Amino acid sequence: MAQAAEIAGNMGAAIIDINMGCPVKKILRSGSGAALLADQNKIALLLAEVRKATDRPLTVKIRSGIDAVHLNFVEVGKIAEDAGVDALILHPRHARQGFGGLADWSLIKALKKAVSIPVIGNGDITTAEAALQMVAETGCDGVMIGRAALGNPWLFKNIKELIAGRPITSPDLSAIKDVMLAHLNWAEEAWGPKTAGLKMRSFLCNYVKGIPGSSGFRKTIQQTGTPAEARDIIQKYFDQVSDIGDGDEPHENGIDS
Ligand SMILES: Cc1cc2nc3c(=O)[nH]c(=O)nc-3n(C[C@H](O)[C@H](O)[C@H](O)COP(=O)(O)O)c2cc1C
Repeated sequence: MAQAAEIAGNMGAAIIDINMGCPVKKILRSGSGAALLADQNKIALLLAEVRKATDRPLTVKIRSGIDAVHLNFVEVGKIAEDAGVDALILHPRHARQGFGGLADWSLIKALKKAVSIPVIGNGDITTAEAALQMVAETGCDGVMIGRAALGNPWLFKNIKELIAGRPITSPDLSAIKDVMLAHLNWAEEAWGPKTAGLKMRSFLCNYVKGIPGSSGFRKTIQQTGTPAEARDIIQKYFDQVSDIGDGDEPHENGIDS
């Protein structure tokens, strides 16, 4: 971990974030992700070594514990603070919960009270309003957003609009199309055409939620193999949708209010 942090820092990483929240079984079996929460001595040792190895801002992302009877996020938070970690991110579900139930934001408030380093809250923020609500309810210093940003990267802009007291804007169809095409290009550059073609299917479907004809789009895109085919389908889909409406259909995900 220390070597990895050093290498990442030397490569220009702006921050080093340690993920102690992953609940995936394969990861837990290898003692990684949220499994680390069960071994506080190991956490102390690991963080001390990583802290020595890098001068980059060091953050740690945790869940509330490994299971309902071992909710040790406060203890882990204090260990991290003592080790010189710069900020904590809490996703307040325990590892056994996976993504079930609701994130318990009251735990973010409890962690904030227990440590003096910044606490970033995470879990179930789906709208700009919810982001501000988490800050108001918990006193957290920042928010982190996961699933709601899939297909709706405009959410971040919407939060800034809300903070500034400006009206919340929605992307028009051409903005959505442009971002889908750009995302596809980045994926192809990063992964190559074969992997990008497969991996991008679900990402592209996220963007069209709430747009007329999106179920047809989803069916067609699931059969594509290459980014070139996907580009063609995106183009045809948006040509059709623009013909149906006047090109300013609201985008779902709560950003069209
Ligand atoms: C498909 C998927 C992949 C994720 N990968 C990571 C990851 O690599 N590192 C991490 O810290 N969290 C990861 N998370 C967890 C999210 O960062 C976040 O903690 C969780 O989704 C709860 O926040 P949300 O309700 O805003 O989605 C992942 C979540 C999902 C759904």
